[in-house]
Amino acid sequence: MPAAQTAWRKASKQFFNERAEELPAQVNVATLCYVSGREQRLWTNPALYRDMMESIREQLKLAKSHSLLEVGCAAGFLASGLAAMVANYTGVDVAAKALAVARTLRIANATFDVGDGTRLPYGDGQFDRVVCYDVFTNFPQFESVAKVLQDMARVCRPGGKIMAGSIPDDAHASEYQKRVLEVTQELENKHGPVETPAPSITFFQRLRRWFTRKVVHVQPNIVCYYFRREDFLQFGRDHGLETQFHDIHRANPYFGYRFNVVYTKPERA
Ligand SMILES: C[S@@+](CC[C@H](N)C(=O)[O-])C[C@H]1O[C@@H](n2cnc3c(N)ncnc32)[C@H](O)[C@@H]1O
Repeated sequence: MPAAQTAWRKASKQFFNERAEELPAQVNVATLCYVSGREQRLWTNPALYRDMMESIREQLKLAKSHSLLEVGCAAGFLASGLAAMVANYTGVDVAAKALAVARTLRIANATFDVGDGTRLPYGDGQFDRVVCYDVFTNFPQFESVAKVLQDMARVCRPGGKIMAGSIPDDAHASEYQKRVLEVTQELENKHGPVETPAPSITFFQRLRRWFTRKVVHVQPNIVCYYFRREDFLQFGRDHGLETQFHDIHRANPYFGYRFNVVYTKPERA
């Protein structure tokens, strides 16, 4: 794999692992947001969370009998809501330290595995539903997204559904940045500055981070990328999947700027 392609992967994994490492022993919704890179002044709002859960349930047609896989689950911010809607929930992520936090949630019907979305550690057709939400935002090109989608489709059963959720819409890229500034200003006015968890890492852990970065030459950061609906549509055509586009949930301040894609895998012929 070319160096530029591995650098962003390493930086992303390091970003989420480091955030998980910084958490105090007591985990709450705000700290889960912190690990996921979510704006905690927004996402600690239970009404907003419920609205998102309902839209995922409706668009993926989730049922109590289903097995559900979430790819890129981080510290389990979505897991607590999703697991309650299905028979069993599995979260998978490349960031082992974020998963260690997710396991402390002790969700009875949830398991969390370390794994890469491009080589999922599961058998063909193992899940009724597969979701990857707010993850592709950090992928710099559609080719990398497609590799994950392909393996999500493999582990989904015939007749099952696959969701790529909260995709920044390339058609609105220029207005999106303006919207981010507006939302940030609204949050500042309403809640004041964001409170980050008091760092719980030691001097030696910081020193190790500094040394590790020198070795791998990547800085941990996350960036927002935009995607064309047409690329998702073409992916569906190429892989024999029925494609549907949906709006993200209505209460989300980025409604109209992001979209969800739901693929349906054909029943066996
Ligand atoms: C922005 S967080 C989103 C977490 C969660 N889905 C949510 O909506 O709150 C993105 C997560 O995707 C994970 N991730 C990125 N690339 C991945 C890959 N190829 N396979 C599995 N997980 C990946 C990151 O480690 C990170 O934990």
